Amino acid sequence: MHDPQPGKIVILTGAGISRESGLATFRDPDGIWATVRLEEVATPEAFRANPARVHAFYNARRSGLLEAAVQPNPAHLALARLERDWPGEVLLVTQNIDDLHERAGSKNLIHMHGELLKTRCLACEAVIAWQGDLELDSLCPACGERGRLRVNVVWFGEMPFEMERIYAALAECDLFVSIGTSGNVYPAAGFVAEARAGGAHTLELNLEPSEGRRLFDAGRYGPAGELVPAWVEELLADAA
Ligand code: APR
Repeated sequence: MHDPQPGKIVILTGAGISRESGLATFRDPDGIWATVRLEEVATPEAFRANPARVHAFYNARRSGLLEAAVQPNPAHLALARLERDWPGEVLLVTQNIDDLHERAGSKNLIHMHGELLKTRCLACEAVIAWQGDLELDSLCPACGERGRLRVNVVWFGEMPFEMERIYAALAECDLFVSIGTSGNVYPAAGFVAEARAGGAHTLELNLEPSEGRRLFDAGRYGPAGELVPAWVEELLADAA
């Protein structure tokens, strides 16, 4: 077991870290998949079958994310502080497609499931910042093609982004911390095993024990907005 000071830290976040910013999770009783079938809105087949339905699903989530009330919460802010003040490297890998980590100040960040506020053109492959609604005839500002844009998120059955960089970081990190994820979806759910294989200490911070809780060396449970700032404070105090 590596000593986690001041080594490399890899942090994985899921929907639970954004819950206290007012964004729904997926598998909680009030989660997104309680009201809509992922097969209808979050697969390449769904997009081919009914692109308007898929655009509408992400348009609603995009406008929800842009509401003034949706702001980074103390958990997002604490992770940005950790990146600034920790003497070693901190890599933040998020499954979330919101921009709350960026808005909190995190910079060394990978969106493995893509980003809600970006679209990708299927004609020219450009990735473009996009704040408004996506329509069937939306124009690609890069190549001028109409109707060839899709939200730049990873659907079920597609390969997440930057996996090589993530696995390399997991293999050499000293501390792996999973925050606000249920451990239901691979490959993210397998990251704790990769980190352990590389000799890292592993910690889960979640509202309740996740599917993978037995794989973690330690776990702390409660709302991320309280748990994460306390954990960061403690880690930085130990490193001082
Ligand atoms: N603080 C901390 N954790 C919380 C909070 C909170 N306030 N509220 C909920 N949680 C926890 C839940 O206990 C649960 O373990 O966050 C987790 C959310 O789990 P999911 O809803 O499954 O979300 P996530 O793990 O991010 O889903 C992974 O599945 O649908 C796909 O692409 C989607 O990225 C998503 C992936």
